[in-house]
Amino acid sequence: MTNFDDLWAKLTDRGNARISDRIDEQFAAELNRAQRYSLRAPGMFADLSKNLINTKDVDVLTQLADSAEMTAKIEAMFTGEAINRTEERAVLHTLLRHQSDDFHDTDKFKAVRSALRKMDELCTAVHEGKFSADIHDVVNIGIGGSHLGPAMVCDALRDHRKNDIRTHFVSNVDASLLDNTLKNLQPAHTLFIVASKSFTTAETLLNARSARHWFEQNSHGKLQVEDHFVAVSSANQKVVEFGISPRNIFPMWDWVGGRYSLWSAIGLPIALQCGYAAFESLLQGAAAMDTHFRRTRWQENLPAMLGLIGLWHSNFLNVSSRAVIPYDDRLKLLPAYLQQLEMESNGKQVSLAGDVLEIDTSPVVWGGVGTDAQHAFFQLLHQGTIEVPIDFILCKKPHHEFSEHHTALIANCIAQAEALMCGTEDVTDPARLMVGNHSSNMLILDELTPYTLGSLLALYEHRTMFQGAIWGINSFDQYGVELGKKLAHNIQQEVATGNSGEHDPSTAGLIEALLKT
Ligand code: F6P
Repeated sequence: MTNFDDLWAKLTDRGNARISDRIDEQFAAELNRAQRYSLRAPGMFADLSKNLINTKDVDVLTQLADSAEMTAKIEAMFTGEAINRTEERAVLHTLLRHQSDDFHDTDKFKAVRSALRKMDELCTAVHEGKFSADIHDVVNIGIGGSHLGPAMVCDALRDHRKNDIRTHFVSNVDASLLDNTLKNLQPAHTLFIVASKSFTTAETLLNARSARHWFEQNSHGKLQVEDHFVAVSSANQKVVEFGISPRNIFPMWDWVGGRYSLWSAIGLPIALQCGYAAFESLLQGAAAMDTHFRRTRWQENLPAMLGLIGLWHSNFLNVSSRAVIPYDDRLKLLPAYLQQLEMESNGKQVSLAGDVLEIDTSPVVWGGVGTDAQHAFFQLLHQGTIEVPIDFILCKKPHHEFSEHHTALIANCIAQAEALMCGTEDVTDPARLMVGNHSSNMLILDELTPYTLGSLLALYEHRTMFQGAIWGINSFDQYGVELGKKLAHNIQQEVATGNSGEHDPSTAGLIEALLKT
């Protein structure tokens, strides 16, 4: 097997040679290119042919994956080795959706199953009006991984609501969000979920305390906190100290990272909104993608191919931005969810061995929903000076009867991918010229169901892991977010007491300006 560094050097040369090529000309150069780059994975079809890459490049990239021992690394994740080495933890979000009882660590497996049963029981009780009173509204208080996943899935599965439960999400410490949420609610009909793996996250605890205060004030002593507050956490003692009954604690484990946790009880809002059976279906879709990722050779393996193409763009075509554009309003929160998944996982500058990397890792991930995005930032994608490869996401079958709308939606999505690749021909006015040659992937879900959504999200999880493992970084820690939290804690004290501490002149000036009456 060729050595990793030699393959990397080879890919660098190949990337340099490719810069002046055209994507659309590759179709003539490579027989059956469109078919060759068409992949199927559970619940979806993908066309990867509109990328500035050829089959020889892909061959070398797959050799790179082999020389990075990706098969062994994937197995290490699935079997629960402590691949999160900085924190000495296993990374087992895949166990949360594992569909048979063959996992070797039976304690972990039983803990997952028992948590799922508990979720099922809560859903049944709430849906049958037997959890305290009649619950109409569920307020999830959590941030980051304890918010983005469930919020995105609840919005995506809005057509699968059961029993008219409304879900609300309070994440930001800015109380305008909490205030705006609470003012339309009645304590007697509201269930609060305090979702925090650590139960130390400042924003979540402040929001939870304020929500509890609102609940107590507005229920005039007639309702009990323990009948209206549940928690999802791995810190039981802290939850109990907050005032939530031990029987209302849903577990989290240190072997599930926050941004990979929507499959655990962090997904309670999903199960409450859509019913437990729909949540199970989401898990099954993810499990199907897990099997695809674990068992399929690289060339047909969708997470691996998306990962390799992303790597090609980042490291060999010097691209530092990536957009995800779902042509489906129900997926409008997907880009924000992917920002945490990908940038918190792979926004790293140090290798697992502790060396400072000399290569790029995660690009900036951003996006928006089509067709709105066309009327906002697509100008830059077509005629700007930076290159932004795109993932387009489309659902073949709509969940409504307005067929003309769906045809228009599909047409716009396909047209944008074509325009970005082909550009304009023979335009004399340079202002109207679009050179094209912009790369994109097209993912087409059969339809948006809990199952296909589960599969799509697991696809992106595995794409993220795959890239991180090739870069040789730890995709499962997030030390970069700690310093800001610590400084915010100090500044909060200073602002509250009026005593400014030691800071650089700019920061000191800002604090002083805020303290001035
Ligand atoms: O600040 C980053 C982070 O630790 C994320 O990784 C995590 O998803 C989020 O905070 C929330 O953490 P917790 O669930 O412990 O409140």
